[in-house]
Amino acid sequence: MQFKTVIEPFRIKSIEPIQFTTRDDHLASLQRAKYNLFGLHGDEVLVDMLTDSGTGAMSNQQWAGMLLGDESYAGSRSFYKFEAAVQDITGFKHVIPTHQGRAAERILFSIIAHPGCVILNNNHFDTTRANIEYVGAEARDLVIEEGHIPGLIHPFKGCMDVELLRQTIREVGRDNIPLVMLTVTNNSGGGQPVSMANIRAVSEVCHEHGLPFFLDACRFAENAWFIKTREDGYRDKTPLQIAQEMFSYADGCTMSAKKDGLANIGGFLALNNDDLAMQCRNLLILTEGFPTYGGLAGYDLEAVAQGLREVLDEHYLEYRVRTVAYLAEKTVSAGIPIIQPPGGHALFIDAKAMLPHIPVYHYPAQALAIALYLEGGIRGVEIGSVMFGKPHPDGTETPAQMELVRLAFPRRTFTQSHIDYVAEVLTYIHSIQEDIRGVRITWQPPFLRHFTAHFEPL
Ligand code: F0G
Repeated sequence: MQFKTVIEPFRIKSIEPIQFTTRDDHLASLQRAKYNLFGLHGDEVLVDMLTDSGTGAMSNQQWAGMLLGDESYAGSRSFYKFEAAVQDITGFKHVIPTHQGRAAERILFSIIAHPGCVILNNNHFDTTRANIEYVGAEARDLVIEEGHIPGLIHPFKGCMDVELLRQTIREVGRDNIPLVMLTVTNNSGGGQPVSMANIRAVSEVCHEHGLPFFLDACRFAENAWFIKTREDGYRDKTPLQIAQEMFSYADGCTMSAKKDGLANIGGFLALNNDDLAMQCRNLLILTEGFPTYGGLAGYDLEAVAQGLREVLDEHYLEYRVRTVAYLAEKTVSAGIPIIQPPGGHALFIDAKAMLPHIPVYHYPAQALAIALYLEGGIRGVEIGSVMFGKPHPDGTETPAQMELVRLAFPRRTFTQSHIDYVAEVLTYIHSIQEDIRGVRITWQPPFLRHFTAHFEPL
């Protein structure tokens, strides 16, 4: 008998109690945090779905590995394990550890990008965009048209528009494009996967023009699972084989091991070009650490090396993608609009469609994220005009294309009843939807404003 329930592929050996809080507590916390959910203390949150980054549970093998960590400053044994794990999956010649993904981005873009040049991607993640803009370059998104339509079902909504890529190379000139990237899965676009066919096609166009092609590989294993289950010809391949093929088309990658490294901290830059690798290592020594630890402890390198093996387990990936789909099914049956199909690491609620009475300049997704916390103690994150809107000197703003609230799933952390609770709160919010009001920004910093801006309910 083939039973159809997908169960958590683990038992729980160690638990972390969560704090129970009331609506009055939530209101007081919101007022103190100026209605910015990044300002809340972890203990003020009942179900924290702010991010899937570094928030997952490690396995017994990872914790055991940490005791084996070699803390040698140079030539740590743990580094060579880490390097072997990364090379086994990616095949890249040079593996440069960093403390997290954005450190890899900063090093890469400080070297290859310059004012006036353009970096292309399906959709840049916010730190990637910020690191590019920080050196005076432009970050341009070339996701396929379908990727902009939240309710539209498409198996690989994270793909890049290959014709638009060709056209952009013609317009901008190959000499002004230091690098082309694909983010797998496409976080800013809803955690949507990129097909193998698209990775191959983008790689071919890049190499025709002599352009380096990198993956932003944070969620490479989830992407591999979507390829296995949705793309012709991959059903009988293992996630490892699929991941290896994905990386085989690229010249390098940036990686946050806080996602599909199944670790609480860590990342890397991996690449084939010797000269670029040397420049990256020189900068690494200046700001992160010696090239065999890159700002990580030996035990962190052990946790990532083990995590990279566990993340490609089929039972894990099936469970992982199923948990998101489960919440999506409950949300859709309550009549709440979401990005379809659900992504690999998070549910993305379409706040523009759910709260049509709130205009974009009153930030409907921020308003929804606040309501979820106020009513249910659930913390999500706004991915809309607060994060991606472009403020102009005259006080007006170009809004983001979509107004989303992301509920991210920490890996191996919540059980089905936590998710049932989230669905119940969402259903309640939907029933009081007309009472939810927009917000205005009362203070904001010059970069990455969503982390620290202050808000006021209208
Ligand atoms: N690229 C993508 C696609 C990401 O999702 C992230 C982080 C990064 C790069 C940067 O990695 O955090 O290790 O420096 N995303 C987290 C999130 C923060 O919540 O989606 P990092």
